[in-house]
Amino acid sequence: MNFVLETVQVLLLSLWFNIEWLIHLLIPRRKKTIRGEVVLITGAGSGIGRLMAQEFASHQTVLVLWDINQDGLKQTAALAQENGAVRVHSYVCDCSSKNDVYGVADQVKREVGDVSILVNNAGIVTGKKFMDAPDSLIEKTMEVNVMAHFWTYKAFLPAMVANNHGHLVSIASSAGLLGVNGLADYCASKFAAVGFAESIGLEMLAMGKSGVKTTIVCPYFINTGMFDGCQTKWPRLMPILKPEYAIKKIMEAILTDQAYLLMPRSILNIVLYLHSILSTKHGLLLGEYLGAFNMMDHFRGRTKKLE
Ligand SMILES: NC(=O)c1ccc[n+]([C@@H]2O[C@H](COP(=O)([O-])OP(=O)(O)OC[C@H]3O[C@@H](n4cnc5c(N)ncnc54)[C@H](O)[C@@H]3O)[C@@H](O)[C@H]2O)c1
Repeated sequence: MNFVLETVQVLLLSLWFNIEWLIHLLIPRRKKTIRGEVVLITGAGSGIGRLMAQEFASHQTVLVLWDINQDGLKQTAALAQENGAVRVHSYVCDCSSKNDVYGVADQVKREVGDVSILVNNAGIVTGKKFMDAPDSLIEKTMEVNVMAHFWTYKAFLPAMVANNHGHLVSIASSAGLLGVNGLADYCASKFAAVGFAESIGLEMLAMGKSGVKTTIVCPYFINTGMFDGCQTKWPRLMPILKPEYAIKKIMEAILTDQAYLLMPRSILNIVLYLHSILSTKHGLLLGEYLGAFNMMDHFRGRTKKLE
């Protein structure tokens, strides 16, 4: 195709996509049916993972729950059964270990079958200034928050590609889009998770596997306990999200094949846009105004430490 034709085509399509976007502001997108899908959720033993398990269960899915915390898993499995899951399979899996991930993944393939919706949700935070964080915790953060995504994709993506059907959900963070004082290793892991999920999403499209969808979730603080003690300077502008609200939005995004979910959407979009166009001095002024330097000052996290 020649340059003029291709340019006109792109301009017309851009116009159409904008009209489509405006239409969908008024008319919600159709939600897909996921009844009978096999959904694997890592970090299902508490917080967002548990609530997602309950939501997926209500769609009559087969659930595969992974966590390092056996008691938490048991409770989630019971709640998922109550909520209508077709079957629930729970596995203790340490996502920081590649061998554990591959071993348990093989067990899942033998005992349950192919996974068609993979939710990488397990996550940890050190909550320390970088120079105070022990190397072992920094390594674990990278292993759980991103390396585990590599290994779970390696294990479960081939079947999705073969069937041209599946969904890869990455529970990342707004800390995967913007740096935060006091969250250096966490930000590094979440930036990596976002870049990885986005790249694999593109790899699927380039391979013609448009049936394998990607949803990348980037929330601000959610009140699950993981970031207990953290503060937001302007709660009306940047509220700490309620888990129930976050789950509603995450499920909507998955069921409508939304590629990115930023929460709260408007303010994060504005901040990201300004971050990309403002001078460094101006960006820092805005960061200070939004409290980006002090968010972690009173971090406690969970009182019961995760390994
Ligand atoms: N809570 C927030 O403010 C917030 C904000 C943005 C993103 N996120 C992300 O959302 C996800 C869920 O967080 P949450 O708030 O529900 O926290 P959470 O602590 O309640 O849940 C994390 C789960 O991961 C499990 N886990 C930890 N290490 C593991 C390991 N090695 N192997 C297997 N499982 C392991 C934990 O046992 C726990 O059940 C995380 O990836 C987190 O980074 C949370």
